Amino acid sequence: MAFFKKKKIEWDKALLPAHLGIIMDGNGRWAKKRALPRSAGHRAGAKTFRTITRYCSNIGIKYLTVYAFSTENWKRPQEEVDALMTLFEEYLREALTDFKDDDIVVKFIGDKTAFSPKLQALIDETESSSAQRPGMVLNIAMNYGSRDELVTATKKIAEKISEHSLKIDEITEQTVSDNLYTAGQPDPDLIIRPSGDHRISNFLLWQSAYAEYIVMDILWPDFKTSDLDAALLEFTKRSRRFGGV
Ligand code: IPE
Ligand code: IPE
Ligand code: MG
Repeated sequence: MAFFKKKKIEWDKALLPAHLGIIMDGNGRWAKKRALPRSAGHRAGAKTFRTITRYCSNIGIKYLTVYAFSTENWKRPQEEVDALMTLFEEYLREALTDFKDDDIVVKFIGDKTAFSPKLQALIDETESSSAQRPGMVLNIAMNYGSRDELVTATKKIAEKISEHSLKIDEITEQTVSDNLYTAGQPDPDLIIRPSGDHRISNFLLWQSAYAEYIVMDILWPDFKTSDLDAALLEFTKRSRRFGGV
């Protein structure tokens, strides 16, 4: 897709997506192009994550969800998984102080129990120390899979029914939404997938029922704020009908 590139757009907050999702894909291909190990691609991708997160917060995005590690990514070679876990630890340590000045609230969506106790403790600390901030909510999807999220939600709802705190007839779409990791947040308006693959890869299946999708032919480590501007500009031109006319 060709995008019109323009520098330094002054964004009208009313036109921006309230909730933006990004599938941070292409780190491996970026590294391969440079004959580097895949871990170098992840390191470069983590830098982009920081730049783009800060930019989103500055222009007035209210919710940003980034896909960092899927429930399927454990299938990768152990060496790559280990490198990613080390990188997450490093980045969480930095995020504890880093996003403070930007007033960013950091949340993790996904099954945390699979992570090492050290990483889980860092996740908890990052969440609790940022919870009261007034700024953008950053959801980091780690060991996240939409199907897993829906199974977990189903179990929570079934539990309420067996405890008689909920009746089967009372189950609505809202009940499902309220039992997802993203409970209380608006659905994503726009999902961007860099690196050219036209697929969802188990990301926010329920929540993205009416999200706009933009696939870009740029590898995540190469993704610049001007690329985000181009995607946002494209988003403002879409006609969203939500099934209406
Ligand atoms: C995304 O980049 C990061 C993770 C999935 C952890 P990839 O590692 O999937 O990069 P490609 O798709 O192989 O280029
Ligand atoms: C999706 O990318 C997950 C993340 C970016 C974290 P993948 O690289 O895992 O997706 P597939 O395997 O190409 O579908
Ligand atoms: Mg990939």
